[in-house]
Amino acid sequence: MMDNLKRPRRLRKSDAIRELVSETRLSSNDFIFPIFIDDNQNSVTSIPSLPGINRYSVDRLEEICEEVSKQHVLGVALFPSINENKKDSVGSIGLDEKNCLCKAVQYIKKEFPHLIVITDVALDPYSSDGHDGIVENGKIINDKTVDILSEMAVLHAQVGADFVAPSDMMDGRVVRIRESLDKKDFIDTGIISYTAKYASAFYGPFREALNSTPKEGDKKTYQMSPANKREALREALLDEEEGADILMVKPALAYLDIIQSIKENTTLPVAAYHVSGEYAMLKHASKEGLLNYDDALLEVITSIKRAGADIIFTYAALELSHLIQKIKH
Ligand code: PBG
Repeated sequence: MMDNLKRPRRLRKSDAIRELVSETRLSSNDFIFPIFIDDNQNSVTSIPSLPGINRYSVDRLEEICEEVSKQHVLGVALFPSINENKKDSVGSIGLDEKNCLCKAVQYIKKEFPHLIVITDVALDPYSSDGHDGIVENGKIINDKTVDILSEMAVLHAQVGADFVAPSDMMDGRVVRIRESLDKKDFIDTGIISYTAKYASAFYGPFREALNSTPKEGDKKTYQMSPANKREALREALLDEEEGADILMVKPALAYLDIIQSIKENTTLPVAAYHVSGEYAMLKHASKEGLLNYDDALLEVITSIKRAGADIIFTYAALELSHLIQKIKH
């Protein structure tokens, strides 16, 4: 026998011991569930690129909100799918109180007041150009965009959003949104800032779901380069100074080091967005028999929490909550 006093395997001997020494535990309270809304009536439409995920008309939100509540998921992030013929170059429909996003917020806050409602603030679902900002001569115009986004944030607060989540990556938008909210007395409406949002290939299925792929060009003049980490810290410090309440990193899995680094450098809660492509990868790979979906999902989401995420936006929120309960019993 080896002369070996230290044997780490002692702590891996049984399920109970492994659970006792587990450094990271998932809870349904960690998750935010994204929901796609559309303009139709009485319709639930599946999204082929995101198996298990649907688009809901406002009058069909009840069932999914009930499921969210039942699984003890604390909140939802809402994304509108707008008919092509209602879009224009400045995203006017985004400032119309009668759009499906506003109706959805009102519905959920009335019927499910305990659910946290988070709205996305950016132009892309509403814009005929499919960009997060206003496009003029092929350029994304920062300050004009921020003016519109501030108005959009106030509208979302007016209809009842608990948090607005600017996902546009324009400069200076957090402070302008904070000032605009406060001016209208929405001092309790929080800002979840997409602080380090990367120009990622993993948003593909989301853009298909919302039909929001940019008509021209890419998003690299506003979303960050996957090569950069110190720049993410710079964005985090700015957003914190500007008054953000929660900082978000997006996507999650290819950016675990960014999550960890921001967590070490802020006292604000840190969120991570496990995006559409990350979810779809697991779904499609498991369908091909390449991996076990439940195990791979738990491993990925645990890694995101282990890296430092306090809050995880994920399309798998309901499945995860279910899985976690099953493991406990
Ligand atoms: C747009 C927005 C995007 C996502 C959330 N908000 C797409 C993009 O920036 O092109 C992506 C979410 C996902 O892929 O799940 N402002």
